[in-house]
Amino acid sequence: MAEKHLTQDQLEIISNKVVGDGFYRLTVRSHSWAKSARAGQFAHIRVGKGLEPLLRRPISIHGLDDRDAIAFLYQAKGAGTALLAAKRTGETIDAIGPAGNGFTVDARFRRIILVGGGIGVAPLMFLAQAYRAKGTAVTVLLGARSKDCLTCLADFKSLGCQVTVTTDDGSQGHRGYVTDILEQHISAGPGPVAIFACGPTVMMRRAATIAGLYDVFCEVSLEERMACGVGACLGCAVMTTTGYRRVCADGPVFSAEEVVWTG
Ligand code: FES
Repeated sequence: MAEKHLTQDQLEIISNKVVGDGFYRLTVRSHSWAKSARAGQFAHIRVGKGLEPLLRRPISIHGLDDRDAIAFLYQAKGAGTALLAAKRTGETIDAIGPAGNGFTVDARFRRIILVGGGIGVAPLMFLAQAYRAKGTAVTVLLGARSKDCLTCLADFKSLGCQVTVTTDDGSQGHRGYVTDILEQHISAGPGPVAIFACGPTVMMRRAATIAGLYDVFCEVSLEERMACGVGACLGCAVMTTTGYRRVCADGPVFSAEEVVWTG
């Protein structure tokens, strides 16, 4: 196994609830994961029993529920995640992690802007928790196809984040893309400001471009399809300014400046 800090654990399910159109919030009990996990990391979860399906699913850590419990957010949109959605309280999941590098959490930023699209919101909640714990102002820009595809608004607000929504069809919030409103939010308050983005590639690419124009610190969390999930197969390699890097082991968080965008 490439990452020496990874562990493989059987985590007891506390709850596994629908929190939106196809979105599920899975909470598991684990003092060691709650203690060691960082925002931006993920778990590589075996969703079925035995060897079917063979590949684990990378699921973002969504946040801490308390000192003994962590939450994951996932979208049930295929056979594997449908199996995960069928799991019940009291069952266990086989999880490897906490995997990946995580976002930068730095008290020098006076404001941070979280840019999330679709299920990309999953790791940003954990990051909002980390920055709000430091007293940092957190602006959340959430984008979705329509209001039915939005989730986590109330949770961000209860953390004290300022939340603005965009939908492609205008059914809630501003009509258009979430990156349409990013520039105005960069200019709207004191710095230093940092941007953290997770969602569709086109959204992250645009956020990275805008961050570059304003010379603002920006990290993106890439969501490549993974196979081994532990750095061994190179199936998740992406091109960066320093060569190919593995999303699962070198990421999933990268500086926006180092990503060579192909999508
Ligand atoms: S999925 Fe195998 S190296 Fe990343």
